[in-house]
Amino acid sequence: MTNPLFFSFFLLFIFLLHCTKTSAQAPAAAPSGPPNITAILEKGGQFTMFIRLLESTQQDDQINTQLNNTNQGLTVFAPTDNAFSSLKSGTVNSLSDQEKVSLVQFHVLPTLMTISQFQTASNPLRTQAGNSDAGEYPLNVTTSGNQVNLTTGVNDATVANTVFSSANLEVYQVDNVLLPLDIFAASPAPAPSKPEKDLPAATPKGSSTDDTNVDTSAAALSLNHRAPTVLTFGVAVLAAVAFRP
Ligand SMILES: *[C@@H]1O[C@H](CO)[C@@H](O)[C@H](O)[C@H]1NC(C)=O
Ligand SMILES: *[C@@H]1O[C@H](CO)[C@@H](O)[C@H](O)[C@H]1NC(C)=O
Ligand SMILES: *[C@@H]1O[C@H](CO)[C@@H](O)[C@H](O)[C@H]1NC(C)=O
Ligand SMILES: *[C@@H]1O[C@H](CO)[C@@H](O)[C@H](O)[C@H]1NC(C)=O
Repeated sequence: MTNPLFFSFFLLFIFLLHCTKTSAQAPAAAPSGPPNITAILEKGGQFTMFIRLLESTQQDDQINTQLNNTNQGLTVFAPTDNAFSSLKSGTVNSLSDQEKVSLVQFHVLPTLMTISQFQTASNPLRTQAGNSDAGEYPLNVTTSGNQVNLTTGVNDATVANTVFSSANLEVYQVDNVLLPLDIFAASPAPAPSKPEKDLPAATPKGSSTDDTNVDTSAAALSLNHRAPTVLTFGVAVLAAVAFRP
């Protein structure tokens, strides 16, 4: 026995359901512009040092531009502030501008990689720092289920969680700054578990002529590094043009 009243209500219910569904989908579908790596990391709340390094090396602009143009997407390994402060004092600040650029680029893969893609990736991974040959910028991945570890040949890092995920960008939090062989092979690897009494941030500012404090010099660095970087780049371009066969 059919009940016409019930049937009408049923139709009305379906209709309303459809309306709420479509109206709920409308705002989500609105385009929000290309992803902005700085904004994404700021939202994460614990990447201040990495953001400064991205800005001082102008890799933030580089990444945003690439995101706007890439078909393959990007993967960014973002070390936490804790990762930076557990480095030996001066580890980052003693680097040249070019080395700082390479260090940042070593944390970026020119392809989007999901956690499950790491499980089948072949080592070494290619990073934006370039050459992944032994002694240069190799980055190896090892996985066990959903756990992903990275090893550089100098130190290791664990992928802690996903900070951001979209169609062309994956940002993962890592618990250590990835130190590439090309830059850090000669220096002894910082002891990962040794408790450091003398964290970089606690170093007295007047204690040395050179600023070995990551915290303060990152800001200073962003003010004065641009000209030399541009100059270095200009020289490199000139050299490349001059030696072109
Ligand atoms: C990206 O986000 C940062 C921080 O929120 C902001 O200062 C910057 O202007 C943004 N860049 C673009 C291209 O929107
Ligand atoms: C992204 O690409 C569009 C179209 O090519 C362009 O209009 C826009 O300025 C670009 N935005 C950035 C941040 O590069
Ligand atoms: C990743 O590293 C952690 C800490 O060093 C270790 O306990 C774990 O076994 C490693 N997992 C893999 C898959 O290498
Ligand atoms: C990385 O993987 C390659 C290929 O398996 C291997 O030859 C190399 O020794 C590995 N390097 C490190 C530091 O694990």
